[in-house]
Amino acid sequence: MKDFSIEVHGAHAYDATGAISEPIYLSATFRHPGFRQSTGYDYGRVANPTRGELESAMTMLERGGCTWAMSSGMAAINIVFMLLSAGDHVIFSNDLYGGTVRLANEVYARYGIEATYVDTSDLAAVRAALRPSTKLIYIETPSNPMMIISDIRALADLAHDAGALLAVDNTFLSPHFQKPLTLGADLVLHSGTKYLCGHNDVIAGFLTVAENHDALAERIQRLVVSSGPNLSSMDAWLMLRSLKTLGVRVERQAATAKRIAEWLGTQRHVTQVYYPGLLSHPGYELQCQQATGFGGMVSFKVESAELAQEILGRLKLIAFAESLGGVESLLTYPKVQTHAEMPEELMRATGLDDKLLRLSVGLEDAEDLMEDLDQALNA
Ligand SMILES: Cc1ncc(COP(=O)(O)O)c(C=O)c1O
Repeated sequence: MKDFSIEVHGAHAYDATGAISEPIYLSATFRHPGFRQSTGYDYGRVANPTRGELESAMTMLERGGCTWAMSSGMAAINIVFMLLSAGDHVIFSNDLYGGTVRLANEVYARYGIEATYVDTSDLAAVRAALRPSTKLIYIETPSNPMMIISDIRALADLAHDAGALLAVDNTFLSPHFQKPLTLGADLVLHSGTKYLCGHNDVIAGFLTVAENHDALAERIQRLVVSSGPNLSSMDAWLMLRSLKTLGVRVERQAATAKRIAEWLGTQRHVTQVYYPGLLSHPGYELQCQQATGFGGMVSFKVESAELAQEILGRLKLIAFAESLGGVESLLTYPKVQTHAEMPEELMRATGLDDKLLRLSVGLEDAEDLMEDLDQALNA
């Protein structure tokens, strides 16, 4: 099945009523038919039919082996980190969601997990950072917020030659545009809060493991059952409803984002535009090879920090808010919001500064969005 059909139908098996919309199973526990007998559902932390339906749909979309739907993107990232043991080493993209860096540096460092941050678009730098103890390479591509593109296939090869796993945070593109597992990644994860939800009304996360990785899937299943990060069945149903429109949303968001990125490039107060769909973007060619779209995220820099801050206050249609991927366009100020706790040296390395703004393009009319940006930039 093609993506649009998977998004609408998933693995949906009709129940006896023929309900087109997946029922919401609110039961926390399930009756056993008899001693040592099970319907396949025993206790809600282990499995729930509504959540299971969502997990099957995500597995199909990512072309993976098995998926866990969780209560946030951070919960999914936490499970990935829980695979590690004291003394293990991780190579991270140096441009990364700030919460991921906080979890690694504040929590897992205390448990003896060592981290090196490198520009993962530079394969030589990644190779140089490898250690005998490296167990994981963890990337975002495009990265948040500098939109750096890393070569998933080459990094998977590097990781596997070193006996490590490659995990890709696929939040910015969604599986509609990029399927890291088909390029050799072992794990793909999402803040489901973003494009997969698409309506800024659910906090969710996903972790999918590649096919034929049964031992890894078994380890993750034990970590999930032991720590209980699961998504509720109400939220699982909302996410199923969101998935049905994923393709139409992200394709329109990407088309509008490209127009806005090109327009921003012509604006006199804009000094730089970061969008992988621009021919001038250093990752353009690679993105064309490994993804089928460029996404709806556009970062840009303006002349001064003062202007960046004034723009936030002048917006009328676009909301000044954290997060991304929803039908409503949002403008974020990474330096003081999503990346406030990012170590200074990482921000210096990638150029993340107080002149940078990150636009998540929604489903509004492109002309209206440009009109709002125009008045905010040029007031
Ligand atoms: C790229 C990326 N990954 C992970 C997360 C964390 O997801 P959540 O907020 O759903 O926990 C975010 C949140 O902004 C993100 O932007």
